[in-house]
Amino acid sequence: MRSTHISSFLALVSLSTAVPTSWTTKDPLPLVIWHGLGDNYLADGIQEVGELAEQVNPGTFVYNVRLANDAGSDRSATFFGNVTTQLAQVCNDLATHPILSTAPAINALGFSQGGQFLRGYIERCNSPPVRSLVTFGSQHNGIVKFQDCGASDWLCKGAMALLQTNAWSSFVQSRLVPAQYYREVNETTGLASDSYLEFSNFLADINNERELKNETYKKNLASLEKFVMFVFEDDTTVIPKETGWFAEVNATSGKVTPLKHRPIYKQDWLGLKKLDHKGALVFKTIPGPHMQLDDKVLKQAFKKYFSPATKKAIFQEVLGDWEL
Ligand SMILES: *[C@@H]1O[C@H](CO)[C@@H](O)[C@H](O)[C@H]1NC(C)=O
Ligand SMILES: *[C@@H]1O[C@H](CO)[C@@H](O)[C@H](O)[C@H]1NC(C)=O
Ligand SMILES: *[C@@H]1O[C@H](CO)[C@@H](O)[C@H](O)[C@H]1NC(C)=O
Ligand SMILES: *[C@@H]1O[C@H](CO)[C@@H](O)[C@H](O)[C@H]1NC(C)=O
Repeated sequence: MRSTHISSFLALVSLSTAVPTSWTTKDPLPLVIWHGLGDNYLADGIQEVGELAEQVNPGTFVYNVRLANDAGSDRSATFFGNVTTQLAQVCNDLATHPILSTAPAINALGFSQGGQFLRGYIERCNSPPVRSLVTFGSQHNGIVKFQDCGASDWLCKGAMALLQTNAWSSFVQSRLVPAQYYREVNETTGLASDSYLEFSNFLADINNERELKNETYKKNLASLEKFVMFVFEDDTTVIPKETGWFAEVNATSGKVTPLKHRPIYKQDWLGLKKLDHKGALVFKTIPGPHMQLDDKVLKQAFKKYFSPATKKAIFQEVLGDWEL
């Protein structure tokens, strides 16, 4: 008797919240995927990842982030552009998307640089809000070296040649994407260099490394249910690979300072400590070189982090709404 009572109460509550949007807690949340440098939103690999997500959680609506509708221009935007402007465009695209904008939340999957850009989305916009963020081989603590390009990849070569000129000039910072997450360390203090703090157009801001901290960034990031960071064990493209876990690496000695021993965590500039204390910060490794994705690892991640809420979680959510 009592249990029917509860279930009709549950039905009523979920009905009233579901009416305008038709989303229920049993529906998988939409998945937003942001691809990496040199890739594009229509590429086979990215499409296959979306299909895999749909296979693991049937009914998942998948949206691949794009900065242009044609594949060539979208690829070009992974090398060239002002990341502030690009991110604002993506924020607008997601907030006005006919399906995403009606969802109570979305999940986010970032490959390589797409990972720190999705984190930027969460910190700056988060509308619709992200429930869980999973990143593979991302550069959360920046890079100390620019990557090598394929022999005939002239777009990549052109970008990298410009980067070698002066990474901190406003010309480069406003036009070349990887320069905006390039990060230098002061060899004496072991902390971020003065040039980086002054001129970095993206990373120094999004990591709240400047004196004036943005509390919204911290609040938004700390609201994640899970923040999962995968590092490729044999990654030689991203230098250092430990940046995927927000670690600092001494370029001379190779000594790794893990996130938990760094001010960004200890003084909690970004809400990472808060996430860690609620068990929401996950550090993972995946075998192989940069972006050699294994279907099994992806499937496990989708099942674990992107599945619809469990019955228990739904119940708690409903009771929480009623502030019992
Ligand atoms: C912090 O970030 C939010 C979101 O992007 C922005 O609206 C706000 O102006 C920023 N605050 C400061 C002090 O920069
Ligand atoms: C990038 O774009 C933003 C927004 O228009 C602007 O405020 C910023 O100065 C630009 N960055 C550089 C390095 O020019
Ligand atoms: C980095 O390692 C070198 C060599 O061991 C050392 O001399 C230097 O002080 C270290 N830098 C920092 C900031 O710890
Ligand atoms: C490194 O830090 C020291 C101490 O704050 C400072 O005097 C020096 O100018 C810095 N060097 C660079 C290259 O930023």
